[in-house]
Amino acid sequence: MRARYWAVIPAAGVGRRMGASVPKQYLDLAGRPVIEWSLGLFLEHPQISGVSIALDPGDRFWPRTAFADHSRVRRVDGGSERCHSVLNALDLLAQEADAADWVLVHDAARPCLRRDDLDRLLATLPDHPVGGLLGMPVRDTMKQAMEDGGIGRTVPRDTLWHAFTPQVFRLGLLRRALRTALDQDRLVTDDAAAVELLGLEPMLVEGHADNIKITRPEDLPLADFYLRQQGRLHRER
Ligand code: CTP
Ligand code: MG
Repeated sequence: MRARYWAVIPAAGVGRRMGASVPKQYLDLAGRPVIEWSLGLFLEHPQISGVSIALDPGDRFWPRTAFADHSRVRRVDGGSERCHSVLNALDLLAQEADAADWVLVHDAARPCLRRDDLDRLLATLPDHPVGGLLGMPVRDTMKQAMEDGGIGRTVPRDTLWHAFTPQVFRLGLLRRALRTALDQDRLVTDDAAAVELLGLEPMLVEGHADNIKITRPEDLPLADFYLRQQGRLHRER
């Protein structure tokens, strides 16, 4: 049987650094909640069989969004950290997906993912033994800070990348990787880190810098600008 593709959207965070009265995935971005932009790309994609979305158990905002009753979206309770939320969503997926199926994990807080970046990531996968993620080589000179705020050293930049999402792995491998990490009390901040702990090497696929994670208030107008620049506003409104 040919492997299918599924998406997992961790959306159970509170957005502490954003400091808004609602979690950042529900803030308005060009007329729609942030999460509708992040999720919409996967629901439109012909290769994605279904989406599992991890939400705070007390989330009151999700039911009012456009895809709440979508037939290919399943809701699951998130956990205390992103890695718990992703694992819960994978466990739910495992009820209908095969261990060899591919799962794309994408942050709800990344609404500006480009379809061509997603497609390029998918195109690299079929022959890859582990999986991979979108990222970008860092541009600035990197410094390692000391506890007193001084510089310890300059870190050579040529091998350093920013890690974005989507991050894609086979369902069975990613569940095992996250379970193993959590068993060792390693609260990994992305999915690749869990897979790396198994001694495996996920592949870095270069994407575009506009795939930002909305984190602080100034990121919202920037995301608005990027969506306009991508021409997505006219089409989707
Ligand atoms: N996330 C999640 N479950 C958690 C924490 C985070 O599903 N327990 C999700 C967020 O909703 C977000 C993604 O993981 O889509 C990336 O996390 P981050 O940007 O850190 O979001 P928050 O944790 O909400 O923000 P902050 O760290 O500022 O509180
Ligand atoms: Mg967080």
